[in-house]
Amino acid sequence: MTVLVVGSGGREHALARAINADPAVTTVHVAPGNPGTATFATNHAIDPLDGDAVAALAVELGADLVVVGPEAPLVAGVADAVRAAGIACFGPSREAAQLEGSKAFAKQVMDEAGVPTAASRVCRTPDEAAAALDEFAAPHVVKDDGLAAGKGVVLTLEREVALAHAAGCDQVVIEEFLDGPEVSLFVITDGTTALAMQPAQDFKRVGDGDLGPNTGGMGAYSPLPWAPDDIADQVLNTVALPTLQRMAERGTPFAGLLYCGLALTSKGLRVIEFNARFGDPETQVLLALLDSPLGQVLHAAATGRLAEIGDLRWRDGAAVGVVVAAEGYPDKPTNGASIVLPEDTDRAWTIHAGTAVADQTLVAAGGRVLTVVGRGDSLAGARAAAYAHLERIEFPSGFHRRDIAAVAAEQESNR
Ligand code: AMP
Ligand code: GLY
Repeated sequence: MTVLVVGSGGREHALARAINADPAVTTVHVAPGNPGTATFATNHAIDPLDGDAVAALAVELGADLVVVGPEAPLVAGVADAVRAAGIACFGPSREAAQLEGSKAFAKQVMDEAGVPTAASRVCRTPDEAAAALDEFAAPHVVKDDGLAAGKGVVLTLEREVALAHAAGCDQVVIEEFLDGPEVSLFVITDGTTALAMQPAQDFKRVGDGDLGPNTGGMGAYSPLPWAPDDIADQVLNTVALPTLQRMAERGTPFAGLLYCGLALTSKGLRVIEFNARFGDPETQVLLALLDSPLGQVLHAAATGRLAEIGDLRWRDGAAVGVVVAAEGYPDKPTNGASIVLPEDTDRAWTIHAGTAVADQTLVAAGGRVLTVVGRGDSLAGARAAAYAHLERIEFPSGFHRRDIAAVAAEQESNR
């Protein structure tokens, strides 16, 4: 099987790497890819947002499967263009990707499907925003309705800050604050059958101890020793399956990866957000543990045959991913610093996100530059493997969080 992965970030490197390890996959191509994917796949310098270009490339390569990684191409209809060219594509249609593309749309579908989520109001004017802020007590949660690359949500105790964010967006969703730990639960679906991956947790804030601004994600780990054992089933039954059924009834079936971002609140499980794609950096750790052949699983999902796959299989043990970001991230990352990487091993390896090659040297070329993934028998072991590998990376101006999975590793050892 020949597979084309669309995108250039850490998620796409991790996806392409796991697909390449599937014995049924002969060749992996990535468009546009990054220096990490270039080590085992062929990169193609095309615009991932251009559906016609992606479809033409897939035809030219004789691809059996196209996997669209990021949200922007999905919302732009790239999966539709690939399917129109007669090629199986893992990724929702433009219309179904609105579950991520519009928070107001996602809230509407959750309401219709009876899925538990924060109470919310959609606001277009300053008066509507002010009224919604009165309705829900602080902390205030104000979300830009559209795609904002992880920067659309403002959480604040200050009413003025909340109003200012609302004023800067065309339309916002203002909602009730959800307490409790967050869980990322990914569901692979062909629109009818749904397979839950293991739960993972992401670290959204830039600094140790969850301080500082929100980012795209600074690290992740799986499994979660503190989460209920039946969390995947709970999410399938109360969130994913009702949502998929409602999307099908609306005439916009969702096939691809339904990312359920959840809060385990004192009142029970609530959806914080849906995404229409694999999460980054959770994917880097989940794929370190997945034992099922990823190419075959995604091909089955893309061709309506997911029921034939059975449950996903997982390795024992744990994985921890630590993001290395460029100085100044998330506000103004500085690019161009050179990076020297140690050899990957079976216990720890580097996934590229924002890197480039300049004058035959690897350099930083993005906010989140790398994710170091460690695997071990326990979270403590996986953490040790990831951080030991990270110490051997030469990238002095880069920075990372030191506390990824630290609390969970403690909890695990106390069980
Ligand atoms: P989102 O882009 O919707 O995932 O929001 C980014 C982050 O903001 C989430 O991962 C949460 O940490 C936080 N967040 C979003 N919505 C809420 C909410 N209703 N209550 C508390 N925190 C939230
Ligand atoms: N890790 C958060 C996201 O992918 O949106």
